[in-house]
Amino acid sequence: MSMLTRRHLLRRAALSATAVTPAGAALGAVTTAAGATALAGCQTGEDAAPTEPTASSAARLQFPVNFGWGAATSAYQIEGAAKEDGRGESVWDTFSHTPGRIRNGDTGDVAADHYHRYAEDLDLMRDLGLRSYRFSISWPRIQPDGTGAANQRGIDFYRRLVDGLHERGISPMATLFHWDLPQTLQDAGGWESRDVAYRFADYAATVFEALGDRVPVWLTINEPKTVVQNGYLYGHHAPGRQDPDAAYLVAHHLQLAHGLAVQALRADGGTGRIGPAFNLHPCYPADDSPAAAEATRLYDGYENRLYLDSALKGSYPEDVLADLGPTSRMVRGIRDGDLEIISSPVDVLAVQYYTPIYVTANGGTMRRWPTSEASWQQIYPDGMYDILTRVTRDYGPIPLTVTENGLPTPDVLAADGTVEDTGRVTFLRDHLAAAHRAVTDGVPLESFHVWSLLDNFEWAEGYDQRWGLIYIDYPTQRRVLKRSAHWYRQVIADNAV
Ligand code: FCB
Repeated sequence: MSMLTRRHLLRRAALSATAVTPAGAALGAVTTAAGATALAGCQTGEDAAPTEPTASSAARLQFPVNFGWGAATSAYQIEGAAKEDGRGESVWDTFSHTPGRIRNGDTGDVAADHYHRYAEDLDLMRDLGLRSYRFSISWPRIQPDGTGAANQRGIDFYRRLVDGLHERGISPMATLFHWDLPQTLQDAGGWESRDVAYRFADYAATVFEALGDRVPVWLTINEPKTVVQNGYLYGHHAPGRQDPDAAYLVAHHLQLAHGLAVQALRADGGTGRIGPAFNLHPCYPADDSPAAAEATRLYDGYENRLYLDSALKGSYPEDVLADLGPTSRMVRGIRDGDLEIISSPVDVLAVQYYTPIYVTANGGTMRRWPTSEASWQQIYPDGMYDILTRVTRDYGPIPLTVTENGLPTPDVLAADGTVEDTGRVTFLRDHLAAAHRAVTDGVPLESFHVWSLLDNFEWAEGYDQRWGLIYIDYPTQRRVLKRSAHWYRQVIADNAV
């Protein structure tokens, strides 16, 4: 049995044992952390738990001049206004309105109402001193049916947003696709259909045409791996499939779509920079056995190299292709010239880091460090250092941006109007310190974006998890700066943690 099949079975078993179905979930057969010791290539347990600042950790770590301090969001998670100004339906509208799919039956219909409150949100960004704002463009606002002429009212919204950023001295970073595929394209086969990659290139060209003169950095596809794994392997994200063979064909088409969008920007003569946004998981063997080392290598292939190698080296990893097998839909779906398209030169690589993965000798995974409210997330700041330095070592000095890093905390709006999310302050400080160490060691990191600017619709978790620097009181849509937001404002002002 191939590793893929075995892992899939393990993960499905794990899923059926838990109701928690997170975004970016990478952990399958999670065993207990308690007995784990002496992991190859990893730190020991004593320094794992988040701690309050100490004298030494409070020493100022100065970041490079003009470092791009930012925060990130995505369209479906914050905008709301699901039926306004000609917006079409996306797979996430369908999925969230399907009973039993989302915790508490939540949907993104209203979310943080950013579509109506964007001006207030822009002012909050300016108050924080943000230098970069990473957001996503909703494909079904631009092309309600996923194809054809642009919906001008959709374009106008993003024009207002982007102009508002410039007016406040904040640099826009736009993601073209953060999972909200137009439902009509899903009905036509979704990402299993090669044609959808070409539809994406057309959509990208439409967006470049409309906004290309005012967006300096474009990201193509947010976390293709999450679409592959959560959307097509485990089925707890839209479109809710559990089909490993389809999943990796989807991976290829997402990568193809990325490359085609890069080519569309160049064809448009756009001056903006462009790159992919990958959630990368440093993979470590859970023990020092040769079997664990070997299993870790293949796991790393599926988690990281599948995406990195194809986009940056023009080849898929041999071990993953061999594991998938020659009769897999993905391997059969790769056509001559595809990898040249996928590896069209990019200007920047966006890295999203949340958790490490510890791989056991039998190809399962185990928990090593404390988790956040998101049970899939182990808190391990050194993983940030490891993944950034590894990317630079293995793929050369391509400029890097961290486009997501953060955690959910049990935030409460107190009677005095404060939100004391000290856990987020500690987490961000520790991860920024690790990023700083990577910069010191030569990693060309340009910017860092906290996930997220605002509390928002966290996919299958609905509004249950709060990931924002800014608290949203959903009944009133009041925005409240959490303690972490005040802290981050000071970090930005000091250019240091
Ligand atoms: C990432 C997603 C983002 C958010 C965070 C918590 O996988 O890109 O939308 O859900 O996880």
